[in-house]
Amino acid sequence: MPNRREVIAGAAALPVLGLGSHAAAAASTVLRAAPARVQLAPDGYPETEVWAYNGRLPGQTLRHVQGQGLEVRLENALVEQESTIHWHGVRLPNEMDGVPGLTQAPVRPGEAFEYRFALRDAGTFWYHPHAHSVEQISRGLAGVLVVEEPEGARPDVDADEVLVLDDWRMASDAVIRDDFGAWHDMSHAGRLGNYVTVNAQPEYRRKAAKGARLRLRLVNTATARIFTLRFRGMRVWLAALDGMPLEVPGEIEEVVIAPAQRADLLVDLLAEPGEEALIASVERDGTYALAGFDVTGPGGAARAAPAALPPNDMPVLDLEGARAVPLVMDGGAMRGLPEGAVWRGNKMEMRALAEAGQFWAFNGMAGMGEAPLVDAFLGETIRIPMTNRTAFSHAMHLHGMHFREVSGDGTLGPWRDTILMAPNEAREIAFVAEAPGDWMFHCHMPSHQMSGMMNWIRVV
Ligand code: C2O
Ligand code: CU
Repeated sequence: MPNRREVIAGAAALPVLGLGSHAAAAASTVLRAAPARVQLAPDGYPETEVWAYNGRLPGQTLRHVQGQGLEVRLENALVEQESTIHWHGVRLPNEMDGVPGLTQAPVRPGEAFEYRFALRDAGTFWYHPHAHSVEQISRGLAGVLVVEEPEGARPDVDADEVLVLDDWRMASDAVIRDDFGAWHDMSHAGRLGNYVTVNAQPEYRRKAAKGARLRLRLVNTATARIFTLRFRGMRVWLAALDGMPLEVPGEIEEVVIAPAQRADLLVDLLAEPGEEALIASVERDGTYALAGFDVTGPGGAARAAPAALPPNDMPVLDLEGARAVPLVMDGGAMRGLPEGAVWRGNKMEMRALAEAGQFWAFNGMAGMGEAPLVDAFLGETIRIPMTNRTAFSHAMHLHGMHFREVSGDGTLGPWRDTILMAPNEAREIAFVAEAPGDWMFHCHMPSHQMSGMMNWIRVV
């Protein structure tokens, strides 16, 4: 793929992208999952065959207001794969959660399914299939769901924009590689791409006035890439994580966004007119521009730090009365599963597991068993002390409910739905089992999910 613009190399001329449409979606939206051809690689490269919702990459941003209902009809026009839509991070009734075999029947090619639920939380969420996830997400099936605060409760910003961070594994002729089941990806860091995009473009770029305050909703839809972002020519506050507002927006110099995570930033452009403000990705071989703002004049005065976003209605954790269900994560390259693991009810040795494409285990079990990892009573607080004994990072995601990290001294972290576990790390989360049903709890690197890191939690 072409060289990306290294920040230190200075700005190259790129087309200015317009503001996205902020129009609210109509009452019922059709999302048709189907093959499509789009210009994904930079100009000069051929179009790429992708799988997309309504032929668009990323899928259209669904914008609604908190309290409204969402009505989406998924039409599966994929040639031969079943699909579903999972509404990542949304607190909704279990039967709308989009997990085939657990919460709904898979939607076969030629079939449709109606998703209908109330949008209880304001925030930045996203949607993606929960069937053949490595392939379907990697081929382009993903989009963002923005739930706006009610009129009058929104932060005072000059623009509100979605930035979808993603990567693609493409050959030099711009064809997406079809190695979705590669054992090396499963047993190592997942299916990393070689071409990074923002909103399916090699770089996001627009004009904005000096002093402007922007709300940027960053969503990592990549299946394995962990983004570390730094900023230049702007002052940045972190206002929400995984859709849920922070109690106090904190000023930051860097933010790490693991697969499936979101970060809502409030950004004041400080660069002088004629200069550029930047969001850049820190990678092994350099720091690359992801989003550039060409700052125009004359510009307004500096503003006071932003206020917190209005909180969503979150439950109260009962840490004292909570039950602890430890989770030990094992496996993968370097460490393996020396004691073997149970898979589909059978205790197996590492070699046999690997031959079955299973490389990871939660508490000695690869994949889902008959019994859930946690059997919780409605309203109960559950603590999960997690230990990552593997040599890799994992983005652990709980469906249906958000959790908080409990640190050693008992202080609570922000509400999240996905937590990044670094190698050898031990971290504890706690959540209130506030929603009845069967909820997935898995690594959001789908290559890991399909090769062992997938379990579920039952709330009754
Ligand atoms: Cu974003 Cu189980 O998924
Ligand atoms: Cu993982």
